[in-house]
Amino acid sequence: MRDYDAQRVSGLARRLTGILITRGQNPDAVPAVVEEPLAALQAAEARIPARYRNAVADHPAISAWVRDIAQDGRPGPGGAPGIANGRSLLIVGTTGTGKTHQAYGAIRCLVSAGVRLRWKATTAADLYADLRPRPGHDGERELMDLARCPLLIIDDLGAAKNSEWTEEITMRLINRRYNEMLPTLLTTNLGMADLREHIGDRVASRLTEMTDKVILDGPDRRRALAAERRCFDAATAT
Ligand SMILES: Nc1ncnc2c1ncn2[C@@H]1O[C@H](COP(=O)(O)OP(=O)(O)OP(=O)(O)O)[C@@H](O)[C@H]1O
Ligand SMILES: [Mg+2]
Repeated sequence: MRDYDAQRVSGLARRLTGILITRGQNPDAVPAVVEEPLAALQAAEARIPARYRNAVADHPAISAWVRDIAQDGRPGPGGAPGIANGRSLLIVGTTGTGKTHQAYGAIRCLVSAGVRLRWKATTAADLYADLRPRPGHDGERELMDLARCPLLIIDDLGAAKNSEWTEEITMRLINRRYNEMLPTLLTTNLGMADLREHIGDRVASRLTEMTDKVILDGPDRRRALAAERRCFDAATAT
């Protein structure tokens, strides 16, 4: 038979199986598809808001958390490290100190490090708006989806108007994640006393145990960036 003649697949399969067996490999093993971190990063960045698409988690406490999560992850698809249980972070700071930047930066760092993770991000205000009971929408299912997501960002905790209903939603979400020890990145502009007042004592108690607190201080970066731009414009106009 010449090389380019059609061969019966079963014959080829038998030959391939023989080759694999002589090499000590399991012919029934499913080949692992390892996604390149670059492709995974591009996929993650497509879901990150434009302003934070190049964010780098340059705060030492956030980088340390990324390292811990990457090291402790159990193997995911293709043998790449996935995300498992881990500590959460409460990123606290006044307006414009870079809390959201650090949170998205942490996702980018994890994905760049080859960690395969399913993640979601929301602000507290969007969370309550999305979960508000309305016809044709399964809020319960959405809540459970967020509660079980391996990594969740809850941005601006304590910034939305609170009510008994928002307290109950926050409690159910945080309690599930607390019980399952799922890593959560929370950001807030409030100090602990005000946050407790806003989200309730039972949520605050769980956050105290499950999170490491990262305090971002310094000026409002937005105003600093605007001042820099004004200086630059003035210098280039003269
Ligand atoms: N480490 C950083 N390096 C470069 N730019 C940064 C850094 N941190 C924040 N920024 C930029 O500063 C601005 C404010 O950051 P960010 O939105 O993260 O602040 P924030 O603390 O979340 O503010 P708010 O409390 O109003 O939500 C953004 O333009 C962001 O891209
Ligand atoms: Mg923010």
